[in-house]
Amino acid sequence: MTSVALTVNGSRCEADVEPRQLLVYFLRDRLGLKGTNVGCDTTSCGACTVLVDDESVKSCTVFAVQADGSEVTTVEGLARGDALHPVQQAFHEQHALQCGYCTPGFVLATVSLLKENPNPSETEIREGLEGNLCRCTGYHNIVKAVQAAARAGA
Ligand code: FES
Ligand code: FES
Repeated sequence: MTSVALTVNGSRCEADVEPRQLLVYFLRDRLGLKGTNVGCDTTSCGACTVLVDDESVKSCTVFAVQADGSEVTTVEGLARGDALHPVQQAFHEQHALQCGYCTPGFVLATVSLLKENPNPSETEIREGLEGNLCRCTGYHNIVKAVQAAARAGA
């Protein structure tokens, strides 16, 4: 076992983990943060996307020990009290989800995208989110949500 210490959604977290434990399972099974989904386990779908030190990362491709010392943000860490994060609000208002399985990953990827590029074109949005898949194929409204979030200054 290896000791890790990281900050998850603003809370300090220390734990002993097996070196082989993936970050996504650490978040889901050890911390109970089930909003980070597993869609493939092979770095294909982006359902497991979280922020590690403000960079979007597919947490099924990262060992928990690699996040040692980092700040991790999951979808549970975005809202402020009852107020949704502007990206969450935009996804809600633009109906940018169907089953919702991919949504946490898309939301986190969008937060990262807009931090790097606050006013992306449609092409830049589609390219920026190409690592995230929606099996319900709701891409049109997802793009509209990202544009709305950008207008809202997310
Ligand atoms: S579960 Fe991580 S990319 Fe699909
Ligand atoms: S809304 Fe169902 S997978 Fe995207």
